[in-house]
Amino acid sequence: MDGNGRWARSRGLPRLAGHHAGAGSVRKVVESAPDLGIKILTLYAFSSDNWKRPIGEVRGLMRLFRAHLASETPELQKNGVRLRVIGRRDRLPDEVLKAIDDAERATSRGRRLELRVAVDYSARDTLLAAIRQARSPEAATRGGFERVLGAAMNLPEATSDVDLLIRTGGEQRLSDFMLWECCYAEMLFSPKHWPEFSGVDLAAAVAEFQHRERRFGTVPEVAAARAEQVAPQSVGDAEEEEIAVSVGGDAEANDAPTAYVAAPHE
Ligand code: FPP
Repeated sequence: MDGNGRWARSRGLPRLAGHHAGAGSVRKVVESAPDLGIKILTLYAFSSDNWKRPIGEVRGLMRLFRAHLASETPELQKNGVRLRVIGRRDRLPDEVLKAIDDAERATSRGRRLELRVAVDYSARDTLLAAIRQARSPEAATRGGFERVLGAAMNLPEATSDVDLLIRTGGEQRLSDFMLWECCYAEMLFSPKHWPEFSGVDLAAAVAEFQHRERRFGTVPEVAAARAEQVAPQSVGDAEEEEIAVSVGGDAEANDAPTAYVAAPHE
């Protein structure tokens, strides 16, 4: 979610005003995601390196996270969104931890969208934590390691591939984000500052994703044939509509992404 600071500066405002405006974009993007077929939306809100920012900005961000989680929880519940916060928990202020616990508990029945917010997240540290925890031979397989990696970032299940990575603010780097999961991610760079990014921009990004040819190392014909062989998986409660989750996508047009990331930042 890059560009909050520059958005504010260009208006003669303090950086925190940019983060507050960015919270508005979070709301718009979360509202739009389920209808675009997105099942998992991950927002990179605070990297482990962001602790190095001036103390006033860090405190302001923590206050904003707490307030945003509390104020948005009813809307998330109403819209069937389950919230999960990924990253380290041991360095967050108590009030933020409580807001996370409350919001995660209150939204636990959401099935339309899983919203993952990365706070005190570092892909390298997550990988190292997973390596320290991976003691069985099973953990040294791809599937087994993805379960350990999920646990290392506080997910109850295995981590999953990012299909589409969007970075705003004109930056073109990964910045310690989901290094394992982005192995085959399609990348999209938007010049817009995060507070200007809307549901319309998200829809345009998904439309572009659907026209990317994803080959996963093979040739187009084989990639297309493999995509057709993937059986649809049921997502959600039995009484809810079955949704086909694409694993890969075909050569001409991909299905909606299973995971989307609204921009890592530094
Ligand atoms: C990066 O922009 C953004 C951040 C470090 C904070 C993002 C936080 C929010 C949008 C607040 C609400 C979020 C949630 C999920 C509750 P930057 O400061 O690096 O901007 P710059 O690139 O212009 O300096």
